[in-house]
Amino acid sequence: MSDQSTAITAEHFRYIAAHTTPEDDFLRALKRAATAAGIPSIWIAPEQASFMQILLRASAAHDVVEVGTLAGYSAIAMARALPASGKVRTIELDPARVAFAREWVARSDVAGKVEVIEGAGMDVLEGFAADSADAAFLDADKASYPLYLEECLRIVKRGGLILADNAFAFGQLFDASPTDREVPAIRAFNERIAKTERLDGVIVPIGDGLWVGVKR
Ligand code: DHB
Ligand code: MG
Repeated sequence: MSDQSTAITAEHFRYIAAHTTPEDDFLRALKRAATAAGIPSIWIAPEQASFMQILLRASAAHDVVEVGTLAGYSAIAMARALPASGKVRTIELDPARVAFAREWVARSDVAGKVEVIEGAGMDVLEGFAADSADAAFLDADKASYPLYLEECLRIVKRGGLILADNAFAFGQLFDASPTDREVPAIRAFNERIAKTERLDGVIVPIGDGLWVGVKR
């Protein structure tokens, strides 16, 4: 920790959550329905959604790419931060999650602004045109993050945002014997992105750690 930093505790996290615009009834209902449908409860925290919306608004983003839709929570949250003609293209491998997300997007206030694309992240990303997005959010299989990052550096315009979830490795970043098999991949990705000259980046201690980069 540098002298300029305050060590963040669980109390700070609770405080941050309590002092952030709360999530609405629709997203709360989406999470209940997703859990009932057997989808794992690994969506982003409401305060992370608020922060990502602020980043998208502040950068006047119009087109967003997401890898890893899950239930559609973050895609809907991000779409709300875009202008009326804006769009989120979100990619999901699991057909049941695709069906769930499409149903809830259709019922949402951003129905025309979110396209849920079924497929493997790399297969779909490779079909996206260069410089066709203002921001990207990685939230899928962690071992593939380096590949997704390469593709997103092609797809996102210069000055655009590249965000990646779970920089804190599900809370196991510093564990000597982590139980989650994706922890080493996250550690490796954190090392790599810090050295990527094509990005200016910072890890933001919100949710499970949000990596925020701007393409140079
Ligand atoms: C897991 C994945 C995520 O993207 C997340 O935010 C939390 C947990 C997981 O695979 O366990
Ligand atoms: Mg995640």
